[in-house]
Amino acid sequence: MSVPVDEGQFLSMLVKIMNAKRTLEIGVFTGYSLLSTALALPDDGQITAIDLDQEAYEVGLPFIRQAGMEHKINFIKSNAISALSEMLNNDKDRSEFDMAFVDADKCSYKQFHEQLLKLVKVGGIIAYDNTLWYGSVAQKEEAVPEHLRETRKAIMEINEYLACDPRVDISQVSIGDGVTVCRRLY
Ligand SMILES: C[S@@+](CC[C@H](N)C(=O)[O-])C[C@H]1O[C@@H](n2cnc3c(N)ncnc32)[C@H](O)[C@@H]1O
Repeated sequence: MSVPVDEGQFLSMLVKIMNAKRTLEIGVFTGYSLLSTALALPDDGQITAIDLDQEAYEVGLPFIRQAGMEHKINFIKSNAISALSEMLNNDKDRSEFDMAFVDADKCSYKQFHEQLLKLVKVGGIIAYDNTLWYGSVAQKEEAVPEHLRETRKAIMEINEYLACDPRVDISQVSIGDGVTVCRRLY
């Protein structure tokens, strides 16, 4: 479930180019993309990392510790929709994040987008993973294996939504399973 190495490097490069200090990660699993980002942040950088599955995070935690990155990570065990709502209720988090990487439940991407647009600062980045969904977004539905179809539909909807959203500039990068990079405009 982890992003491939080249995508980890791409995320790391984004963080460095932006001089990001405060980031969000939605969908952590064992923390590969999280560690890639943490290593790219300055020593006083902070990542708020949200996942329902604390056990998976704890599998990767020894590697995060070995890399000396634990102090940069605030892990929240929660459904991301609730955790982001709570952050939105807390005014100090609004428009405070430089970047967010989203790699969780694909059917919730639209909800995440609405929440993240209020948490990421103007000029900041929201990057969505899996926006090519194994290439199936470019195939006819009949050619797509049954088990991929439901999520394919959700991904096609969010792709169209992001492409038409005047609040962001986007670039769909064909790395890994596809990453759509959105830059908040206002
Ligand atoms: C593909 S994995 C993340 C992989 C990780 N980004 C990496 O590259 O190492 C997806 C993760 O999202 C989590 N997840 C799915 N839906 C979620 C939600 N609504 N809220 C929080 N976590 C969620 C799952 O528990 C799973 O660990």
